[in-house]
Amino acid sequence: MLFCFMPISTAFSDHSAGPAALCQLLGTRHPIVQGGMVWCTNADLVIAVGQAGGLGTLGAGSMYPAELREEIAAVKAGFDGTFAVNVPLLYPAVEEHMQTIVEMGVPVVITSAGSPKKWTKFLKDRGVVVVHVVSSAAFAVKSVAAGVDAVVAEGFEAGGHNGREETTTLCLVPEVVAAVNVPVIAAGGISCGRTMMAALALGAAGVQMGSRFVATAECPAHEDFKAHILAAAAGSTKLRLKGVTPVRMLDNTEGGFSAQVAEAEARSASPEALRELLGRGRAKRGMRGGDLVEGELEIGQVSARLDNLPQAGDVVRDVVAGFEALRTQLSGPSFHWS
Ligand SMILES: Cc1cc2nc3c(=O)[nH]c(=O)nc-3n(C[C@H](O)[C@H](O)[C@H](O)COP(=O)(O)O)c2cc1C
Repeated sequence: MLFCFMPISTAFSDHSAGPAALCQLLGTRHPIVQGGMVWCTNADLVIAVGQAGGLGTLGAGSMYPAELREEIAAVKAGFDGTFAVNVPLLYPAVEEHMQTIVEMGVPVVITSAGSPKKWTKFLKDRGVVVVHVVSSAAFAVKSVAAGVDAVVAEGFEAGGHNGREETTTLCLVPEVVAAVNVPVIAAGGISCGRTMMAALALGAAGVQMGSRFVATAECPAHEDFKAHILAAAAGSTKLRLKGVTPVRMLDNTEGGFSAQVAEAEARSASPEALRELLGRGRAKRGMRGGDLVEGELEIGQVSARLDNLPQAGDVVRDVVAGFEALRTQLSGPSFHWS
C-alpha cells in the first residue's frame, strides 16, 4: 500500500494512527507540522504553512498574552483553515494563554515542557485537539493516559529545548510508535521528503519541522540569525545546559554565549551559576535581535543541511514532492537486491 501513488494522507488509511488519521485529526491536507518556536513564529508563517496544506503553529512561549491574541486574530483574518498554538507548560502566563485559546476558538494546541495532566482535559472538554511533545516512550504513555490526541516524538537532533535522554529520532520514533495507539508525529532532523519518508518508515504518522521553518522568508527571526544558520556545518550545534534545561543551540561568533556555557560546564559550574550565566532575554537577543555573540541561538543539527531561505509554503510543497518522488524510486529496481 505504501508504494503506490496516492495522496500521503490516504496512503495508510487502514491504520487508525497513520497519516490519514493524523490529517483528519488536525484538519490538514498533509501530515506536516511547523513546530512552535520561541521568537521565530508569527501569523505570516502560520498562514503560509496552512495555505500549503500543513499545520502552522504560533509559538506562545515567547509571547505576552496581548501579543498572542493579536497573532491569533491575524491568522484568523488571513486564513480560514486550521492552525495550532504551542504552549510550553512551564510558561508563567499559561493560564491566560489557555483562556485566550479557548475564547478565540484555536482548533489545535501543542503542549510541551511540562506535564500534560493539568490542561489536556480542560482543552478537550472545550473541543480543542491536544498534541503533546515527548522525548521518551515512557512519557508518551503518560501523555496518552492524560488524554492527548497525538504525540510529537522529538529526538536529540532537534533545535530548542530537548530531552535529557539524548535519544535520536531514529531510535525514539519506533519506540514511541510501539508504546502508544495515537498518531505519532516525528520531530528532529527532518527537512525534506527523504527525511519525512524515513520518519514514516519508522511508523510515524507525520512530521514536525522547526529549524527548516526558521530558515524561511516569513519567519520573524533576525536576518543575521538566518544567515548564520545557512553558514552552519556539521558540529555547529551542541546540546548545552543539560544541568539546567537542555537546549540545542548554534555556536555563536567570537567565542560567544555557547562557548561561555561550554567553559562553565567544563569547570562543573553549579546549576545556579549556569542560570545566572543564561540570565534573562538571551533567546530574544539572539534569535529576534540578531546578537550573534551574546544571544542564545536555538537551532537543530539539520541546520548543516540548510542552504536557502525559501517561502514557507514552498517548504511544505517541496517536502511533499520529494516524498512522492522517493515513493516512486523506492518501488524501482535500485531498491531490490534479490
Ligand atoms: C528556534 C527554535 C525554537 C523552538 N521553540 C520551541 C518552543 O517554544 N516550544 C516547543 O515545543 N518546541 C520548540 N522548538 C522545537 C520545535 O517545535 C521542533 O519540535 C523542533 O525544531 C524539531 O526539530 P528540528 O529543529 O530538527 O526541525 C523550537 C525549535 C527551534 C529551532
